Amino acid sequence: MVAGGNMHYKNLGRSGLKVSQLSYGAWVSFGNQLDVKEAKALLQCCRDHGVNFFDNAEVYANGRAEEIMGQAIRELGWRRSDLVVSTKIFWGGPGPNDKGLSRKHIVEGTRASLRRLDMEYVDVLYCHRPDAATPIEETVRAINHVIDRGWAFYWGTSEWSAQQITEAWAVANRLDLVGPIVEQPEYNLLSRHKVELEYLPLYSTYGLGLTTWSPLASGVLTGKYSRGNIPPDSRFALENYKNLASRSLVDDVLRKVNGLKPIADELGVPLSQLAIAWCASNPNVSAVITGATKESQIIENMKALDVIPLLTPDVLEKIEAVVQSKPKRPESYREMDLTMAKARPREFRRLELTDKGTEGHGGFVKHELQRECKGFIRVMSVEIHLPPNGISIHVHLNKAKAPSSPPFVILVILPVGFLPIGVVAVGGIIFRLVKQAVHPECPYRWPSHHHLTAPR
Ligand SMILES: NC(=O)c1ccc[n+]([C@@H]2O[C@H](COP(=O)([O-])OP(=O)(O)OC[C@H]3O[C@@H](n4cnc5c(N)ncnc54)[C@H](OP(=O)(O)O)[C@@H]3O)[C@@H](O)[C@H]2O)c1
Repeated sequence: MVAGGNMHYKNLGRSGLKVSQLSYGAWVSFGNQLDVKEAKALLQCCRDHGVNFFDNAEVYANGRAEEIMGQAIRELGWRRSDLVVSTKIFWGGPGPNDKGLSRKHIVEGTRASLRRLDMEYVDVLYCHRPDAATPIEETVRAINHVIDRGWAFYWGTSEWSAQQITEAWAVANRLDLVGPIVEQPEYNLLSRHKVELEYLPLYSTYGLGLTTWSPLASGVLTGKYSRGNIPPDSRFALENYKNLASRSLVDDVLRKVNGLKPIADELGVPLSQLAIAWCASNPNVSAVITGATKESQIIENMKALDVIPLLTPDVLEKIEAVVQSKPKRPESYREMDLTMAKARPREFRRLELTDKGTEGHGGFVKHELQRECKGFIRVMSVEIHLPPNGISIHVHLNKAKAPSSPPFVILVILPVGFLPIGVVAVGGIIFRLVKQAVHPECPYRWPSHHHLTAPR
C-alpha cells in the first residue's frame, strides 16, 4: 500500500470513480524532457504521495509519452486496479483520418493508445477538443462503442463549450447511451472563464466533474520566470515551447505573479503551493492535474493540500485584488450577450441553424428580437420547448427587405440551469447572431441550409 499522506480522493463528477485530488500528467515532460528511467522515479514519487490518477494523450510527444508511461508502470509492477489512467483522442497524426472525433479515428486512435500504453483499458477517455467537422451524435455513439468493448470505462471532453457538452448529453439521453462525466479545461489564477462561469449550469444538471490542467500556467505561477530570466532547465527554454513562452511571459502576467508573491510569503508557503491549492479549493474541481520534471517539484506541489485551509476569505480577497481575473456574472441579457461574444466569438457559428420551419409562440423573445432587429428581419414565430434536459428555442426569421428569400430557423439549446435567465438571455444572443448573419460587412453568409445535427 502507498503512503498517501493527506491525499483526498474525490468522486469524478457524479460517477463512482475516485480520483486523487492532485493528479499527474505527462504533457511536455514525457518524451521531450524525460525518458522511462526518470518517469519511473517521478511516478513513484507521486504514488508515495497518494496520487492514483495519471493523465496522458495520443498527441503527447507523438505517442511517446504513452509508451513511456506504459513501460514505467509495467516496470514499477503496480496493480492496474489501483490506478486511474486517462488518455485523450483528437490529434493522432497527419492524415485526414488520423485526427478529430470521427468514429474511425476514435476507434483506431483508442486502440493505438492502448497498444502504446500496453494496457487493456483506460479508465477515462477524453475527446481532447471539440470537432466541428463531425456530428456530435457520431462521436457519442463511437465513444459508447469503445466503452462497450471495455477499452474505456468513462468518457469526458476537453475544452468543449457548455453548449457542446449539453448537446452530447442530449444525444446520449435520447439514445440511452453514456454521456460525458468530466471536462478537462485549463484552470488557474489566470484562466477561469469556463470553470467559474460557462460551465456553472452543467455541474448540477449533469453532475459534470472537472480534471483541470496547467494549475501553474506552465510554471509561470511558481514565480521562476521573469522577462529576462528563463531557467535553462525549464519548459520555456525548450525550442518547441518558445511561442508559448512569449505568449505567457507578458507584462500583465508577470506583474500579477509579482503581486502574488507577498501573499504566499505572508502565509509562509511557496507560490506554487498557493496556486495549486487555489485550484483544488474550488469544489467543482475533482482533480487538479499537475506536471513536474523533478521529484523536488512533486514534493513541493503535493504539499499544496496543506495550504487549502489557509485560503481564508481574507486571503482570497487579497488574491482577487492582484489577479483581477474573476469572471463577472452578467447582470442583464445585454451584458451576457457581450460577455459571450468577447469570450468566444466563434461560438455563435456553432449555434445550430436549420431551414425547417416551426410554429409556436415565445412572446418575450419575439418582441425583443423584432425591436432590436427592426428593419432588416421579420420574426415569423418563436417557439420555446422545455424538454427534460434544458430549454430549446426555435426562431423563424425572414429578411425584411427580401421577403421572398428562404426563411431560416435558429435553434438554441440551453441547459436547465440557465432557466432563470435563459429566456431573457437568449433574446440578446439571437439578435446578435441575426445581426451578424445579415449585416453587409459580416463574414458569415445568410444560411440557406444547415442541417440540425451537423453544425459547422
Ligand atoms: N487537456 C488539455 O488540453 C491539456 C493541456 C495542457 C495540459 N494538460 C494536462 O495537465 C497536465 C499538467 O499541465 P502542465 O504541465 O501545464 O501543469 P503546470 O503545473 O501548469 O506546469 C507544470 C510544469 O511547471 C514546472 N513546475 C512544476 N512544479 C514546479 C515547481 N514546484 N517549481 C518550479 N517549476 C515547477 C515544470 O516544468 P519545468 O521544470 O520544465 O519548467 C512542470 O512540468 C499535463 O501534463 C496534461 O496531462 C491537458
